[in-house]
Amino acid sequence: MIIAIDGPAGSGKSSTARAVAKQLGFRHLDSGAFYRTLTLAALQRAIPVEEWNHLDARALDALEVSAENARQGLVFRIAGDDVTNQIRAPEVNAHVSQMAAVPAVREWLLERLRAIGGSGNVVSDGRDIGTVVFPHADLKIFLVADPTTRARRRLAEHGNRHPSDAEISQEVDRLLRRDHLDSQRATAPLKQASDAVVLDTTDHTFEEQVERIVALARARDQRVRDQDRN
Ligand code: CDP
Repeated sequence: MIIAIDGPAGSGKSSTARAVAKQLGFRHLDSGAFYRTLTLAALQRAIPVEEWNHLDARALDALEVSAENARQGLVFRIAGDDVTNQIRAPEVNAHVSQMAAVPAVREWLLERLRAIGGSGNVVSDGRDIGTVVFPHADLKIFLVADPTTRARRRLAEHGNRHPSDAEISQEVDRLLRRDHLDSQRATAPLKQASDAVVLDTTDHTFEEQVERIVALARARDQRVRDQDRN
């Protein structure tokens, strides 16, 4: 079974996908983390952002980005160094949408994501999982939440549990800027799949949204079993 979770920045896709995968005993495939690792690698190598558009498959291979299975999910590496935490840094947030808009980058990653997804039960989250990466996913979720809620959650994730109005408003601007870039780009933009279930998590707790997706997955699994029996 493949479960696709898409949605705008800070809607809680990654943490939700991780928890859903854990409950179902599936693997979590965080596609955004790959774009983030490529972005960090390009920044570390001091490749000017204006040149990212010219990166081809060979140049991307040379960035030495890899993802390796670990008990907690995937561990992301650059030239062997574990960068799983560093890829959440503000500098990466600020540039990742530019990396993700490069068609050669998306093509390079598509193969890798499909290879991982083809190997079994997976919960994958991102922007184009239900539309491009796994258009035949068994269950598609589109997670949304109002921008202020998303900003508060993102700030809390970074340890700021009591942000000022100004901090919230700055974070809203950053999230909306990224949403704009991600939904306006030509290749595989952020878009709701026509057969996705939309979950607005603004007024829901994290546990509630995880439970809801797990329930939908179990119901879907039961339907398939019933069909097989008949
Ligand atoms: O966690 P958050 O929603 O902030 O972002 P993410 O899922 O880690 O993705 C980071 C960035 O990668 C996004 O802003 C997109 O530019 C890009 N991305 C993408 O283009 N396609 C995907 N399937 C996943 C991420």
